[in-house]
Formats: sequence, structure tokens, C-alpha cells
Amino acid sequence: MSVMNDRPPPLLKVEGLGKHYPLPRQSLFTAPGRLQALDGVSFELESGGALGLVGASGSGKSTLARLLMALERPDAGRVELLGRELHALNPRDLRNARRDIAIVFQDPAGALDPRMTVERSVGEPLEMLERMPRAMRRERVLETLEAVGLSAADLGRYPHQFSGGQRQRIAIARALVTRPRLIIADEPVSALDMSVQAQVLNLLQDLRQRFGMGLLLISHDLAVVAQLCERLMVLEAGRITRQGRTEDLLQAL
Ligand SMILES: Nc1ncnc2c1ncn2[C@@H]1O[C@H](COP(=O)(O)OP(=O)(O)O)[C@@H](O)[C@H]1O
Ligand SMILES: [Mg+2]
Repeated sequence: MSVMNDRPPPLLKVEGLGKHYPLPRQSLFTAPGRLQALDGVSFELESGGALGLVGASGSGKSTLARLLMALERPDAGRVELLGRELHALNPRDLRNARRDIAIVFQDPAGALDPRMTVERSVGEPLEMLERMPRAMRRERVLETLEAVGLSAADLGRYPHQFSGGQRQRIAIARALVTRPRLIIADEPVSALDMSVQAQVLNLLQDLRQRFGMGLLLISHDLAVVAQLCERLMVLEAGRITRQGRTEDLLQAL
């Protein structure tokens, strides 16, 4: 007899994810080597939860982020976003699924087009993903800017007129404007001064609670992920070597 399972699917379910890259050929007569950037990575993130991913530089963190955004295809395993297998979707369904995910990168300067005003930068994802009337779009942009601590006076300004911390706030607003279910933040504070790091982390925490988003927070810095995430996993050379509740892992270290 089958048992009814009415639990909603997790926000993110990752199973056995693998990805390799070819290494440059050493000689004409040997096969090129391969670098296993990710190997058998499995985890789950429930809706609204916060999961931290820590690992040294080169351990595969950004590769995982790219696979979760479906910017690259895995060569093993699967990613399910709210029950949909991401890499099996047709282009239209993938576009829809992508509305549910947003990413914030380390370098806010690179994430913002220097020729675009704040209003255009933050509003652009709405144009591409949703047919939202202009007035409503403006309203949503303003609401999101205010949520990250900026104001209507900033709408017509350009990225170079802001500090690094403010630029990261703008990049976060751009990520949030579509109200994604999952935000992936890949080293979001690594390029910022220490004093500004705490502000941006607190902001991410507030926004997560306010909008009920799940967060995958990626950092090489254990202190950063431990501050925001109730669960964390450690990535070493493409493999998850520890995974569990933050307080348990901190005690075991
Ligand atoms: N497009 C690529 N082509 C070849 N090798 C890559 C590519 N992207 C990443 N790598 C390699 O994969 C490994 C993991 O990289 P990455 O995911 O960027 O690590 P992290 O974000 O943890 O620093 C590194 O050894 C890196 O050099
Ligand atoms: Mg990286």
C-alpha cells in the first residue's frame, strides 16, 4: 500500500552532483588529465532555511553555485528545485525555474553595469523575467531599495557614486527584486572592509526573514557562515567532508 506523502518538496535537493574540467594536455602523446571539481555532492535545503558552504579557495564552491543556477551542466547527479529537476527542464521551464533563484557575487562592481542607473540595474531582472507594468516595476524597485537601506534619491545615481558596501546592497536589491525563493550568495562580503561585512551580513539575515527566502551562503570564512546559518557543510577538493548543525560542527572542530 502506498502512503500519501503530502510534505512539500524541499527548496533544494542535490544528489550525487559531480563536475570535472579537462586539464591542459601535457603532451601530444598522453591523454589530457581531468580535474574533479565536484564529486558526489549531496544535500538538502528546506524552504526558508539557511545553509552555509565553507571551503578553501579552489575547493569547488563557485562550481557548485554555477550548477545550481544551471549556468553549467553537471556530469553526474541531479539538482531539484522545489521538486523540478533543474537540468532536465526545457528552456521555457528553466526560465521559469530561474525566477526562483538569485545569486549575489563577491564583486559588486562586476555585477553592476557602470552605465546603468540604480533604477535600471535593480529593475532589469523584472523586465527579463516578468511582464510587469512599468508603474508596478518602479514601485517594486523602490520597495526593494528601501529594504536594503537605500532610498528614492538613489534611483538616478550610478554605481561609481557609491561605496563598496553600498554597491553590494544594490547588487543584493537586484537579486531580490524578483522575490526569489532561494538566494545563493557566493563570497558576498569577501571584497568588503571588515566593518561593512557585518552590516551586509545582517542585511542578508533581515531580508531572508522578511521575504522568507532560503539562503545558501558560500564563504571561505567559517565565522561568516556560522553567523548566519543554522546548518553548514564543509567542501574539500570537491567533496563534502562534514555536514550538520552549525553548533555541533563548531564543537567538533
Ligand atoms: N571553467 C573552468 N575550467 C577549468 N577549471 C575550472 C573551471 N572552473 C573552475 N575550475 C577549477 O575547479 C576547481 C574549483 O574551482 P571553484 O569552483 O572556482 O572553487 P572555489 O569557488 O571554491 O574557489 C579549481 O581547481 C578551479 O581551478
Ligand atoms: Mg569561488
